[in-house]
Amino acid sequence: MSTISEFRERLTNFYRYPRICKFQDEIKDKEPMMSFLQTPHPGDKLVYIYIHIPWCTSMCNYCPFHHTYYHHTSEELRWQFTEAVAKELTMYAQTPFFYKTPIVNVNFGGGTPFLLEVKQFERILTTIYDQFKMGDKPVISVEGDPIALQNKEKLKDLKSLGMTRASFGLQTFNERLRKKLTVESSGMDVYKAVDSLHKAGYTEWGCDMLYNCPEQNVTEIKFNVDRICELGPSIIDVYDLNISPNTKLAKQVIDNRFSSNPSNQNEIEQFRAIQETFAEHGFEQVRSVNFKPKTAEIMRNGILYQFTEDVLAIGPSARTFLYSGGRNYRNHCSTEKYIEDVEKGEFPIEAGNIVSDSIKEERDMILFPYYLEVRKDRINYERFKSKILDMVASGYVEETPETIRLTELGKSWAGNVQYYFHSDEEKEAMATSTFLSLQQGTNLFNQDFVNVGRPRQMPTLGQSESRV
Ligand SMILES: C[S@@+](CC[C@H](N)C(=O)[O-])C[C@H]1O[C@@H](n2cnc3c(N)ncnc32)[C@H](O)[C@@H]1O
Ligand code: SF4
Repeated sequence: MSTISEFRERLTNFYRYPRICKFQDEIKDKEPMMSFLQTPHPGDKLVYIYIHIPWCTSMCNYCPFHHTYYHHTSEELRWQFTEAVAKELTMYAQTPFFYKTPIVNVNFGGGTPFLLEVKQFERILTTIYDQFKMGDKPVISVEGDPIALQNKEKLKDLKSLGMTRASFGLQTFNERLRKKLTVESSGMDVYKAVDSLHKAGYTEWGCDMLYNCPEQNVTEIKFNVDRICELGPSIIDVYDLNISPNTKLAKQVIDNRFSSNPSNQNEIEQFRAIQETFAEHGFEQVRSVNFKPKTAEIMRNGILYQFTEDVLAIGPSARTFLYSGGRNYRNHCSTEKYIEDVEKGEFPIEAGNIVSDSIKEERDMILFPYYLEVRKDRINYERFKSKILDMVASGYVEETPETIRLTELGKSWAGNVQYYFHSDEEKEAMATSTFLSLQQGTNLFNQDFVNVGRPRQMPTLGQSESRV
């Protein structure tokens, strides 16, 4: 048995497997991709709905998710979009696959979905309640930003429509850094938003914080965690800042616009400081990127379980993964193209792949470090035995009679353990995706131009393929 050497360069977490690359996985014929809809769902997985709302009031310079300026959209377009979402939901609900299949969780993400009007939420939620069978006590959540979430009346109205949870990007309390990252809100807005959440009766709320940003150090990270714990969220997402090549932020870093830049050493030190500081406040690490107060409950139908269940994703750029149907695909990133396809009665899908049982087994191994552990009877242990033993010998993973799980050391290297379980084919496809994205001047996430200036002259895809 070979023992792998120590991980040195820390990798970011993987939330999806296999990759979807617009250049490699373009869907030319939609029919075979959607044929699964004719067979009833076997009921072996919980079903979640994700709805992507593509607007924000600011353009944070690090963010690769599909979004455009809310203030550049017309009232008419926003209603046209809302109707397209309702229609796409209905198209799925009326298939044998989703008919009578209970929905346990609805998550509005983005972008900043909280910007939608109450009437638009009502239109979408009523469509879900009317068209789908709802599970027992569904979790319904919405992402906002610290300015939008100060609207107490809207929070209350959404609660009466069934919203159970809200979250927002806190990122950092360092005002100077917020400005440099072009985050519109201030730390004071965070306090006001939390006050509104409490007054509107939201007992469950979460926030995201960033680490390993330019100019961040361990002292600032500890300060952020201390302040967050005082605010009393029920869940916190901690993300290492991913500076995607081609983005505006990447160019600023290259141009030395910051007094210190992210480094691998900073990243590891800051993540350890995050773990220690949360522990001092009585919070526990429940996922590779999530911390919660020990007393807060995690519901199986809550958002933290979504990656091992079936996710139907609605809206532009949204990514569906269905174990039961064996499908992995993403909608168009262009909001206009999305609306156009739905209005024609077509599923607005752009890229994806059909997933074999073998790939599902790989996915289970790749996602287990995100969940910190997995039961041995939920994976194909024999198939991955030699890689598991490598990880055990290297100190990142340990075995119990029923489970395999990350060690304390492994919890700081979850992304690397995930990458170690990737198949060689998938590693190669990911490298090709990176190469093509860079060559085409797009961002690496959706291969679109969010936060990226369009290159003056783009090579054609045919040219780039011939060089791979
Ligand atoms: C899609 S945003 C939605 C939240 C909401 N729009 C807001 O910003 O308040 C979800 C989270 O992704 C994280 N995020 C965005 N870009 C990132 C990047 N380049 N690297 C790491 N995390 C990122 C941020 O923490 C952000 O709050
Ligand atoms: S981090 Fe949130 S507010 Fe900022 S651009 Fe991304 S989705 Fe919009």
